[in-house]
Amino acid sequence: MSQENSLTTALAEAAATAGHAPSVHNTQPWRWRVLPDSLELHTVADRQLAAGDPEGRLLAVSCGAALHHARVALAAEGWRVVVRRLPDPGEESLVARLTDLTRTEADPDAMRLVQCMSVRHTDRRPVSDEPVPTDAMGEVTRAVTAEGSRLQILDRDQVLELAATAGHAGAVEAEDPELRAEMAYWTSRADPGTGLPADVLPAEPPQTTVPGRDFGRPGSLPIGPGHDRMAVYALLHGDEDDRDSWLRAGEALSAAWLTATRLGVSVVPLSAVVEVPGTRQALRQVLAGIGFPYLVLRLGIADPAHAGPPHTPRLAGEQVVDTSAVRGDQA
Ligand SMILES: Cc1cc2nc3c(=O)[nH]c(=O)nc-3n(C[C@H](O)[C@H](O)[C@H](O)COP(=O)(O)O)c2cc1C
Repeated sequence: MSQENSLTTALAEAAATAGHAPSVHNTQPWRWRVLPDSLELHTVADRQLAAGDPEGRLLAVSCGAALHHARVALAAEGWRVVVRRLPDPGEESLVARLTDLTRTEADPDAMRLVQCMSVRHTDRRPVSDEPVPTDAMGEVTRAVTAEGSRLQILDRDQVLELAATAGHAGAVEAEDPELRAEMAYWTSRADPGTGLPADVLPAEPPQTTVPGRDFGRPGSLPIGPGHDRMAVYALLHGDEDDRDSWLRAGEALSAAWLTATRLGVSVVPLSAVVEVPGTRQALRQVLAGIGFPYLVLRLGIADPAHAGPPHTPRLAGEQVVDTSAVRGDQA
């Protein structure tokens, strides 16, 4: 295989691997363009939540998670890469360009994280009574810091404040007909490649300290009688509140979630509280004004006795990876 062929093949494979990344409502709001010497990540406006995410915060966080997946996949295959975030203000859909690829040693840590990509999933059942080991929380927190964001583990009083704030966000969203219609759309997709099928959604509201998202309809995932009293709640946050920091927050989310998966820790993001402007502002108070909140995370050890939810479907590779500019290059 020529150097050029191996490069474009590596780029296309990394983009396809990034399809495992989590995204809000499983919208997968990204499209990759493989070019002869670079890889571009674009947003897809059709899969932005017009009602729930008009500013594109969660769209950027989701794309950031996909970007981190692609970076890790390239590192695992022995490619060093330069990432330019939001490289062209004139091209709004372009969120990142991966360029200047050079050969290096395959990174064993990245290889382990790649293995976690197909295992990681969202398990919305209450977590078990087993506490999350302190060392594991330390590793997850360091994974976030390494990506330029911060993770604040909430103490008991802050969790109670969060619970009230999340309850309020849920009530605001439940009263909004546009949000309800948007949720109904993403939870009843005929096209199985995006959205949330019934078997990943709780059959009844799980007993959790902080209310989970109200999906507007029951799913078919059995919940069991447990209460997630051993869950750890944490706030992913940072210094700025702009597209670049939301993208980086998504990279941090991916790093944290893959690290947690490697350590046997389950993660559920809770984003309704950052969607509603008033509750997002209230979360800033939980942070005592020291940063801007990007996402709430619930961490815990999943119930080992019962099978968790199945994997949420994904779009096919050719729907999210455009190789038309290099067709013929690839081996
Ligand atoms: C930015 C973002 C926000 C999310 N918000 C929520 C949420 O509020 N509640 C929830 O249960 N899951 C949430 N999720 C999880 C997604 O629904 C999930 O990643 C997606 O459906 C794909 O499923 P998987 O994680 O099992 O692969 C969020 C994920 C991301 C990336």
